[in-house]
This record gives sequence, structure tokens and C-alpha cells, in this order.
Amino acid sequence: MDKNYYITTPIYYVNDKPHIGHAYTSIACDVLARFKRLDGYSVKFLTGTDEHGQKVEKAAKSQNKSPLEYANFISKDFNTLTKTLNLSNDDFIRTTEKRHILAAQSLWGKLYENKHIYLDKYAGWYALRDEAFYSEKEIINGKAPSGADVSWVEEESYFFDLSKWQDKLLEFYDKNPNFILPKSRMNEVKSFVKGGLRDLSVSRTSFEWGVKVPNNHKHIMYVWLDALTNYLSAIGYPDTLENEYVNFWPADIHMVGKDILRFHAVYWPAFLMAAELPLPKRIFAHGWWTNEGKKISKSEGNVIDPLEIISSYGLDQIRYFLLREVPFGSDGDFSKTALLARINGDLSNDLGNLCQRVISMIYKNCNGSIPSKCEKLNDRDIIFCNKSIVLYEKVKNEIDQQSFHEAIKLIWTFISDANKYVDEQAPWKLRKTDEKRMNDVLWILADTIRKIAIIVQPFMPDSSTKILDQLSIDISERDFSYLDSKHVIKTNKINSPSPIFPRIEE
Ligand code: MSP
Repeated sequence: MDKNYYITTPIYYVNDKPHIGHAYTSIACDVLARFKRLDGYSVKFLTGTDEHGQKVEKAAKSQNKSPLEYANFISKDFNTLTKTLNLSNDDFIRTTEKRHILAAQSLWGKLYENKHIYLDKYAGWYALRDEAFYSEKEIINGKAPSGADVSWVEEESYFFDLSKWQDKLLEFYDKNPNFILPKSRMNEVKSFVKGGLRDLSVSRTSFEWGVKVPNNHKHIMYVWLDALTNYLSAIGYPDTLENEYVNFWPADIHMVGKDILRFHAVYWPAFLMAAELPLPKRIFAHGWWTNEGKKISKSEGNVIDPLEIISSYGLDQIRYFLLREVPFGSDGDFSKTALLARINGDLSNDLGNLCQRVISMIYKNCNGSIPSKCEKLNDRDIIFCNKSIVLYEKVKNEIDQQSFHEAIKLIWTFISDANKYVDEQAPWKLRKTDEKRMNDVLWILADTIRKIAIIVQPFMPDSSTKILDQLSIDISERDFSYLDSKHVIKTNKINSPSPIFPRIEE
């Protein structure tokens, strides 16, 4: 079985500071990357910045900076964000790097050599915000379908023969029904492709900031062809014999927002087919966040700064909220009330309380050590323990479909079962009546918390580490192989616990 896993975020435009949308995509990818690593995969998790194009050039001008100076400046913010979000990315690519320019020009060369690129003249609409071309029939009340302003462009341009790929794309979608998820998005893409594809303008001459077209430096590459290539540049393309390329291409998943699905699910596969390269295995398009019911936009002044909310509520709390609150793939609303309900409910009351009461009971009543293994489970114990055995498989199944919210729900249903088990067994009462049974119950619960903390690691790496540390679980015994029935908690000495998720009153 192929145990390599390559996952990518979109590379972010450096025309503006990072916001919640960027954080959302990146956190989802991080959870997936961490999950796969814990599951024994060799993972490459790539993120980075998209630094070329007219939009960046314009933003730089407005700040009286050169595009590169400006890109350096904002790219740093995105790099800092990877640390703030505790992302486990293995690489951070910038499209202004040599390795990327080489890859983009090589891919262009391949497309040209294969006769899929030709010189002509473009006359049509262009939306700077989307960095996208639109046909007359797509324009609605003078705007792009996304609502972006458009301007008329007429210039010499190279074209990619996208129109020739319509049938091949449709055939590919049919053969690979999980190529685009969620399923509803696959239908959208199919009907877009069935509606007919026009050849795509892939170079510009009216500005300078971009990768030069090989052998015709008057032209620069269309920023999307340039940007999409980042997924290849980071693994050594054009050297297809390079280890990283061999191990990681085709990518397992490109995670994107719904607004940029067309570029990834139509243009990118067509470019790759034309270059005779294998296609990625999946494109997942997630939804968009609103802020207290309102569309997030700079002009509204309601952009959510990830650094700000993390410093107010805590990183793991935000990571949890973003992935739990909204079914991954749907749109969602960021509201303070909902966030506090999750923090105080799911985190403080459910998981936090379970850990706090069980670990303190053990600390106080079992000489500060995990009691020895319970050798004889009763029927009630068996029913409860069996749930933890099937949990991992079920969670894995949801994660493999990027149903993060379902995965979390499964874990939290189990946490609630564990809390019920504590209430029912009432180990504090057993202390006086049956110490042996109290030890058995506390052992079962300690082992349950160990398993919960192990499986929660991808979502909340810091908090789960604290729980595993409180139980003195060895660092080398925290991956998913330790969830099977052969591995149980040892009679470790433990420390007095402190609350992991304090309640937040507003
Ligand atoms: N540079 C391109 C991607 C090139 S990939 C080869 C780009 N960059 S972006 O910075 O504009 O957007 C990056 C991601 O942020 C997109 O996936 C987009 O969907 C996401 N989001 C932007 N605003 C968002 C919300 N309000 N909510 C959720 N995600 C949103 O596009």
C-alpha cells in the first residue's frame, strides 16, 4: 500500500494580509497532514504564497514598493501565520523562488512542445480580483459572476487549447467520481465543462510582474498557470526522477476554497494532461465563512484577523471551532456566541471536565500513579470499551472523506459516553466501598482518556499533548498504532492535573 501522502493548500496572494479564510484552509490541511503522519504515512504538506500578477503589482504600487519588496513583506506574514496556527507544513513555497520559476517555465515548455499553446490576440473581460478571464455571456450587470469588477482587455496573447480537453475531462470525472468533493461541486464542474470550454489566454503583455514566457520575454505567464505549477515545483519538477516527485506525485489532495475550484478542477487537470503528467487524486472545495451573518469584506471592515481571535480565545479552541462548527464543504458563520458555546460546552464541560475529574481522582486516590491494569471487565465495561476500539476506524473513514465535523462528532459522542460512564460508576463512592473496583474503573477511564487524547492530536495538538503529558504517556507511544487493543496505559506516575480548557465568560 502506498504510504506517501501529499497535501497542499492554495498558495495565498500577497496583495493583502492573512485573514480567517486563509487560516481555515491551512488548518484543515494541517489536521489531515497530522492525521496521516500519526497513521504511519510519510507526508508532504505544502503551503506558500502566490506572488506574481497584476493584482500584486497594483498593491505594491499603492504602497510605493517594488512588487518583490512588497511580496517579501507580505509573504513573511503568511510564513508567520504558519507558526501561529501551529501548522506542520514541510515546505513553504514562494512563486518568486528560482525553483518555481524553473518549474513554471519547464511546464510551459512542455505544453508548447506538445503544441497545446499558440499565439493569437485576446479580446475580452478580465477581473483583477479573481485574476480571471470572463466571456461576454458570463458577465452579469457589468460584473464577473463572483461580483468582481471587470475591465476590457485587448492584447497579443498565447492561448492554451482548453477547448480540446472537454471530452477528456468529462471522461476523467466519470472514471474518478471522488476526484472533486463534495459531490455537489463535482456536478457544478461537470455542467460547466459540458457547457463548452474556450481556449484559455495564458500570457499577458500589458504589465511586467510575472514569470517570463520562454523565448518571448515580451509575454509573462498568466498568473494561474504560474501559480498552479507550485504543486510541482515544490517536489522537484521538472526533475521527474527526483525522490520527492517520485514519492509524492500525483498529489493526494489539493484543498481549495469553492471560489477557486474551476482553476483546480478544470484548468489544472487539462494542463497536466497536455503535459502528459498524472493528475492529482482529489480536489476538495470547502465553503466560505461569513462574520456574524455578513459577507466578509475589507470595505465592510469586518475581516477577521486570525492572530486577534487566537490571542483572545486560544489556538486549539479556534482550530476546533472552525472544523466542528460547520460541515466541511458548506458555508458557515463565525459568531462569538457559537464560538463560546463550543469552547465552554464541548471543550471545557465535555473533554476538559472528563480529564480533570478522572486524572485528579487518580492523583488523589491512587498514590499519584495510574492503577494497574483491570484484568476482569464486567459487561458494562465491555460495552463501553468496545466503543473505543471501533472509534479509530470510524474516525479514519470520515477523515478520508475530509468530513472533519463528522470525525469530531464521533469523538465527542465517545467523550460523552465516557462522562456517562464516570457518572454511573461513581468511582468517588467506590473509594469507600470497593477500592479494587475503583482502581479498575479509574484504569479503564485513564486508558480511555489516553486514546481520546491520541486521536484528538491532529485537531488540537497542544491541548492533547498536555493531556498525554498529564498521563505521562511516552512521546514515542502517541501514534495511532497505540490505539489498538494490544496497547494499554502503563502504571505511570502522574502529576497533579491543571485544567486544559478554562471556561471563557464574556
Ligand atoms: N492565489 C490564489 C490561489 C492559487 S492556488 C494555485 C488565491 N489566493 S487567495 O489568497 O485569494 O485565497 C486563498 C484561499 O482563501 C482560497 O481557497 C479561498 O477560498 C480562501 N478564502 C478567502 N476568503 C474566505 C472566506 N471568507 N472563507 C473561507 N475561505 C476563504 O485564491
